[in-house]
Amino acid sequence: MKNTPNPSRRKFIRTALQTSAVLPLTGGSILAACNTTTQLAPIVKKEGPLKILILGGTSFLGPHQIAYALKRGHQITTFTRGKTKPTIHKELFDQVEQLTGDRENNLLALKGKQWDAVIDNSGRKVSWTKATADLLKDQVGLYVYVSSVSAYYPYYTVNVKEDAPLVMEVPAQLDEGEKPMYDYGVMKANSEAIARKIFGEDRTIAIRPHFMTGPADRTDRFMYWPLRLAKGGDIILPGKANDPVQFIDVRDIAEWMIRLIENGTTGTYNGAGPASPMTMPAYVYGAHAAFGSKVNFVSIDDYDFLEKNQVPFIAPWILPGEKFKGMSRVNIDKSVANGLTYRPLATTIKDVYDWWHSDAVTQERRDKLMNGEQGLFQREAMIIKEWNGR
Ligand SMILES: NC(=O)c1ccc[n+]([C@@H]2O[C@H](COP(=O)([O-])OP(=O)(O)OC[C@H]3O[C@@H](n4cnc5c(N)ncnc54)[C@H](OP(=O)(O)O)[C@@H]3O)[C@@H](O)[C@H]2O)c1
Repeated sequence: MKNTPNPSRRKFIRTALQTSAVLPLTGGSILAACNTTTQLAPIVKKEGPLKILILGGTSFLGPHQIAYALKRGHQITTFTRGKTKPTIHKELFDQVEQLTGDRENNLLALKGKQWDAVIDNSGRKVSWTKATADLLKDQVGLYVYVSSVSAYYPYYTVNVKEDAPLVMEVPAQLDEGEKPMYDYGVMKANSEAIARKIFGEDRTIAIRPHFMTGPADRTDRFMYWPLRLAKGGDIILPGKANDPVQFIDVRDIAEWMIRLIENGTTGTYNGAGPASPMTMPAYVYGAHAAFGSKVNFVSIDDYDFLEKNQVPFIAPWILPGEKFKGMSRVNIDKSVANGLTYRPLATTIKDVYDWWHSDAVTQERRDKLMNGEQGLFQREAMIIKEWNGR
């Protein structure tokens, strides 16, 4: 793993600036090195801290990016509405310049300022990315768009590489329930494209994360594993022995993004793990290594039974189907070749377990997950009994 920035690779190519007069230049910024002609101008980052703007930054991915970037000496600015408060690394936010606005209709706070890179975490509409890219293209060196593997939906093919076709339009005829998948994928695919178009290929990074897991996750979709594996006893192991899984520790992807920026490595990358192909049984055995509990895995390999008992999805496992065939088989070669590294699975699971029991999570949330009648925690004993009684 690279631990130090490599200044010689920090070569961000910046498109023409019309005139330096419209861009007040600050010391240490990559913009300081640009010329004032209308020709393409290479801009080389000087050694030293980077100024990084995060659109978002206060929910799940953001605090991890901030913690890592600050540790490496960079300066961070966030841009949010001020509604979402960080639940982890709260103490670091004193060191962060926090700008307030709204991506829907108020970007005023971003005007006239300069950064070396912007990370677009909060992209929820193509129009939002267009507006920030348009505004920032002469103020910022590099645009990092946080996309998603959903840009490949539906996942008909396996070993999907970054140059695979993306879902650019929502089909007219859709199966019931599929619209949200298409809407999200189409939004991400078109947002990437607009960022690239405005900033140029040479100044854009698009990262397509798989399921992110780790401390500060606002969903509970991965929680069955740390909680049940720690407790032990009879545990559902869904799916067939060779069902593949993919996921990524949020910290691995957050930290890699910062290193990509430091190195000026542009391009498009899948953000998935683990390092080697992993099956669902390998996942649960690897995750169990975090605890010393006595467990009995009850392998339920009948997809119809799982569907009937409402166990279609316990991340990272998803019920295989034609349109999900390739979802857990995304190619990671390019990302690994460009510096993506992985924590051991047991570390992720143990850290999630510790975070879940810390002040960062409310008792109300814990109770809701454990006691919800429709939740798996309340239903698992019954499901296992029914399965064993077949
Ligand atoms: N979780 C996964 O497994 C997964 C997988 C693939 C891709 N992704 C993508 O990863 C990205 C990371 O999400 P995250 O929540 O972890 O990022 P984050 O940067 O930690 O948090 C999202 C931020 O967006 C801000 N925000 C929301 N609406 C806004 C608005 N109208 N104007 C300005 N700011 C606004 C929120 O603050 P305020 O509410 O205060 O405005 C919050 O700070 C997302 O783009 C997501 O689509 C996630």
